[in-house]
Amino acid sequence: MAQLPKEGPQDRLASWLADDMAAVNALIRDRMASEHAPRIPEVTAHLIEAGGKRLRPMLTLAAARLCGYAGADHQKLAATVEFIHTATLLHDDVVDESARRRGRPTANLLWDNKSSVLVGDYLFARSFQLMVETGSLRVLDILANASAVIAEGEVLQLTAAQDLATTEDTYLKVIRGKTAALFSAATEVGGVIAGVPEEQVQALHTYGDALGIAFQIADDLLDYGGSSASIGKNTGDDFRERKLTLPVIKAVAKADAEERTFWLRVIEKGDQREGDLQQALALMARHGAMEAARDQALDWSAKARTALKALPDHPLRGMLSELAAYVVSRIS
Ligand code: IPE
Ligand code: IPE
Ligand code: MG
Ligand code: MG
Repeated sequence: MAQLPKEGPQDRLASWLADDMAAVNALIRDRMASEHAPRIPEVTAHLIEAGGKRLRPMLTLAAARLCGYAGADHQKLAATVEFIHTATLLHDDVVDESARRRGRPTANLLWDNKSSVLVGDYLFARSFQLMVETGSLRVLDILANASAVIAEGEVLQLTAAQDLATTEDTYLKVIRGKTAALFSAATEVGGVIAGVPEEQVQALHTYGDALGIAFQIADDLLDYGGSSASIGKNTGDDFRERKLTLPVIKAVAKADAEERTFWLRVIEKGDQREGDLQQALALMARHGAMEAARDQALDWSAKARTALKALPDHPLRGMLSELAAYVVSRIS
């Protein structure tokens, strides 16, 4: 888990939503168990007890409360969203062959790929059970759609990896799918169960979408520039996996012939040698690729904050605005 500074906006959100979040955590613990297959609670406990920032469930709770919701279904939806997220992490670490997550060895490393895939499927199924309990077809539609779009984003990324011709448009499609779709669904369902007018539901969607995009661009920058200790994952995974993330796309676009030969070797051919990661970082620095990507993240963060203007004046609205600034402060 990324260690967030104390008293950041997510801490203020967490303390404002403490009672709701305690109920969500109890639901998560209750529903991640299985009486029939002991491997399931072993794997889920390993990942869930490691924490994680719980950003997405907080978004659902905050959106619902901000919209004046007084029931308890938002807690089920928040748990649903965290289960979907956790399922995708289990699958993602298999696909990315990652060794660290939330400051711990990944489940695929401790157990195996088979366990990660199957337990991920179990968590997906559990998430559907939880959302059905709300009885809202609209909510089911939004979350089922998000689940499909996340998978599409991951598959699109798979086919774009190792392809130097990948454009910024394709990159945006990938991250909007694999990451922002769950952020926007998380905020949107909060407004939907609160029954607010359509323009406010749309504003919540726009906020979540832009926040998720800013968040993923920042995450991709941290994969090159962060410290493993602070992000709880290993850095350099994207380079090793030959992924065309935004700073690479920008550096490749400005590459001269010699630089292009380098990128062709390490990304397309996958012939990576000692010192190549440092060389990639140097080329990105030469072309200001990190700064340009960071500026794009800042634009999305600003878009997220603007969308909040359509929502009711409420302390939670201020905290969501600070959160949008916070996700990019990690890279500013
Ligand atoms: C990790 O998300 C997956 C991405 C979209 C980059 P988080 O950074 O929110 O993961 P946890 O839940 O806090 O571990
Ligand atoms: C995570 O994408 C998105 C999903 C889990 C769907 P990444 O592969 O970029 O995220 P990390 O860096 O492993 O958390
Ligand atoms: Mg990954
Ligand atoms: Mg991935």
